[in-house]
Amino acid sequence: MTSTKKFMTLERFINEQEQLHPNATGEFTGLLHDLSLAAKLVWREVSKAGLVNILGTTHRLNVSGDVVKKLDEFADETVYRAMDHGGHVCVMASEENEDILHIPDHYKAGKYVFLFDPLDGSSNIDANITLGTIFAIYERVSKEGKGTLEDCLQPGYKQLAAGYIIYGTSTMFVYTTGRGVHGFTLDPSVGEFLLSHENIRVPKKGKIYSMNEGNYRNWDDGMKYFVDYLKETDKTTNRPYSLRYIGTMVGDAHRTLLYGGIFAYPGDKNNPEGKLRLCYECNPMAFIIEQAGGRSSNGKHSILQVQPTALHQHTPVFLGSEEDVLICEEFLSGNR
Ligand code: AHG
Ligand code: MN
Ligand code: MN
Repeated sequence: MTSTKKFMTLERFINEQEQLHPNATGEFTGLLHDLSLAAKLVWREVSKAGLVNILGTTHRLNVSGDVVKKLDEFADETVYRAMDHGGHVCVMASEENEDILHIPDHYKAGKYVFLFDPLDGSSNIDANITLGTIFAIYERVSKEGKGTLEDCLQPGYKQLAAGYIIYGTSTMFVYTTGRGVHGFTLDPSVGEFLLSHENIRVPKKGKIYSMNEGNYRNWDDGMKYFVDYLKETDKTTNRPYSLRYIGTMVGDAHRTLLYGGIFAYPGDKNNPEGKLRLCYECNPMAFIIEQAGGRSSNGKHSILQVQPTALHQHTPVFLGSEEDVLICEEFLSGNR
């Protein structure tokens, strides 16, 4: 029995999606094509990281105080250079650069804004554990010419597209443009991302919780009570939940997208706003989860409603199955 699955490449899918937008100019399609090339270039280095002198650190700290690994820097430069000359983008911003990233003067500035975390899960690089690249795409708000910081500080609900590349047992490109969430698996033998997960939906309720419980003692009481609740035995509500934590947001969020449950990086006594960054980690992941029928929250409301005030600002983040995130919010607000 031959598979009925259509042989759909990411490029063809993007082109077909463009047909759905009557006044599409092809600019957005071009941007996504540039991005899929960047994804393959990063994958090529990530997949052989142990073989070339690309492990280890640059002995530099980034804005968030994280040690910048060589692979971080490589991924950052690779994504920037893949996106800077297509004429689709007017400004970029990345985790590894304090300020916004302008398009070189000799290239045309386009109408889109591109924010990215070039390599997510850096602490896992040397241990050969799942890594990722995360991106968010907006339409510029500034009129013309060079993009501005204001272009980069838009609330998440204004994202035109968002997604990630996950470098795991296989490499996948997962994205949404507001018409559902679709996953493409890289076939290295032909160098194409092939449609493997059309219209991904988050289960309404899961039985996995994913967070760094090492911070438990510093959490607010509501957060502690929520995790204690998940660990109680109650067959009617499928408890106790299982703990799964990779320490790479892309890996934990991707598993949550497919299996359900809840991923969280709460604030705590030492870091009230938590560790994860709003603009290029939490907003794109929140768009993906909500587009797949799940829920995102900063503890009070959807992450997508937060008005950013700084490029690298942090936010507490809770995302996953609608029922699980709602129960978490009830504990956090003291209503449970
Ligand atoms: P990055 O490697 O881009 O700095 O991101 C690391 C983040 C995120 O991937 C993950 O969820 C989180 O750090 C893990 O933090 P802890 O090690 O504190 O659990
Ligand atoms: Mn990250
Ligand atoms: Mn990173």
